[in-house]
Amino acid sequence: QKYNVAILGATGLVGQNLIEILEQRNFPVGELFPLASARSAGSTVKFKGKDVEVLNVDDFDWTKAQIGLFSAGGDVSAKYAPIAAEQGCVVIDNTSHFRYEPDIPLVIPEVNPQAVADFRNRNIIANPNCSTIQMLVALKPIHDAYGIDRINVCTYQSVSGAGKSAVDELVGQTAQLMNGRPVESKIFPMQMAFNVIPQIDVFEDNGYTKEEMKMVWETHKIFGDDSIGVNPTAVRVPVFYGHAEAIHLELRQPVTADDIKNVLEQAPGVTLMPDDADYPTQVTHASGQDTTFVGRVREDISHPNGINLWVVADNIRKGAATNSIQIAEVLIADYL
Ligand code: A2P
Repeated sequence: QKYNVAILGATGLVGQNLIEILEQRNFPVGELFPLASARSAGSTVKFKGKDVEVLNVDDFDWTKAQIGLFSAGGDVSAKYAPIAAEQGCVVIDNTSHFRYEPDIPLVIPEVNPQAVADFRNRNIIANPNCSTIQMLVALKPIHDAYGIDRINVCTYQSVSGAGKSAVDELVGQTAQLMNGRPVESKIFPMQMAFNVIPQIDVFEDNGYTKEEMKMVWETHKIFGDDSIGVNPTAVRVPVFYGHAEAIHLELRQPVTADDIKNVLEQAPGVTLMPDDADYPTQVTHASGQDTTFVGRVREDISHPNGINLWVVADNIRKGAATNSIQIAEVLIADYL
């Protein structure tokens, strides 16, 4: 059986990866409908060696698609997801727009695949934030085995998480600085090249940024456990692709680094790098891959129940496109 798939935001970074990964994973696509705004309608994208025309989302008849993969921003999802869902297309949405609504499932297939069943509530499934996905792929087996009390996490997030224009801005600023010209910032709040910025998304009233609070809200929803303490600092670094996270866990009991490595060795979606000096980085390991890399596993010398981890993944693939397609795979295998 084949499924007609619409990609909303087909000309964007995540959209292009969605198309590529559908092909790589041999997803049973009947017809592919790349959708974007009037700006790029009429252009083409490549799928299985053929040029496929990009259509204006405003004119699209959603009854033609069984599955819609949305990645064109929150406002665009707010407008089109209910329309698509109403017409029988199951929407898998990459934006944060629907994530915190109680009747919308928020799914990482390695962590809570059973939640996909709740797509029936509104025909919409939400894909979590990129930083949450890689963190929970690594932490789920540890939580199951030993129980996590508290998560302290600091992220090192690449600019691609903010879309194509953000990648272009880092390229542009790098060139401007190398040529001794003044730097222009439009996407980032200040100079991004050769700098790190401790702000992603807007500030909330409690002094955390929205990106940080996404990691809190989404961990509670996906683990189904509001008692876990989550204390994030989200930082943008001048890296193009891949996010890293320094994670400091407080477990419910003392656990050795070897115990944690044994659990991670078996964990779905995890590539463990068990040797201290053989650690993953965004550029050398994660970029272009679909697994979540874990290294620097060690006992916290300052806390009896503490464990430290370094977790790295491709934010556009596992953090967005691959995770959405894995959700679609669960959907067609078990429900459609
Ligand atoms: P378009 O090419 O028409 O602007 P990125 O996250 O890399 O910046 O990509 C954003 C994606 O979302 C692009 O494919 C872009 O298409 C699409 N998009 C942005 N705004 C809209 C809109 N109002 N309607 C439909 N698609 C949109």
